[in-house]
Amino acid sequence: MTDFPFTFDLLFPQGLPSRVDNHIQRRLSALRGQFLDQHAYQAMLDVEDCLLYEVYEIRRPELPGEMLMGISVVHPGKVGREFFMTKGHYHAVLDTCEVYTCLKGEGVMVMETPEGETAVEKLSPGKVLYVPPRWAHRSVCTGRAEDLVTFFVYPAHSGHDYGTIEQRGFRKRVLDGPKGVEIVDNDG
Ligand SMILES: [Fe+2]
Repeated sequence: MTDFPFTFDLLFPQGLPSRVDNHIQRRLSALRGQFLDQHAYQAMLDVEDCLLYEVYEIRRPELPGEMLMGISVVHPGKVGREFFMTKGHYHAVLDTCEVYTCLKGEGVMVMETPEGETAVEKLSPGKVLYVPPRWAHRSVCTGRAEDLVTFFVYPAHSGHDYGTIEQRGFRKRVLDGPKGVEIVDNDG
């Protein structure tokens, strides 16, 4: 079987794709233990297991030579002072990269390597971010009311390693401070 080129549209103003093969929804309960303020986390969860982010995937075979694409939507909100964020992950095949293009909203990408290097890059519409091989990455929505919407593409054989981040967290946290967005060390 030979493949044939295809297109899809990014439908604005929402920025959602016209073609979706898989729609993932991640709720507060999926990020247990990840937020700094555990009391605020539990209090929120007792009221509602609210939606933190969504991923719209375009499926391709997970083979070298293929690329996986999709749209990530992180909703606005906070747990205590900490902005809503994705679980974050390394790629299971560590030596693989990813490109993010911000379509809508305001946010940051928190990144780090296994060796302890860290980076935080701001995202706003039109910004393209290259995440090199070996860098774990987590999207954070810092907007007050607007979703952070990004288009991503990465090698299809990359896979995901969520466990390392679930156990250790990222070395940096993104908090809402009196002077705006604060990047702080994760001492926990
Ligand atoms: Fe990734």
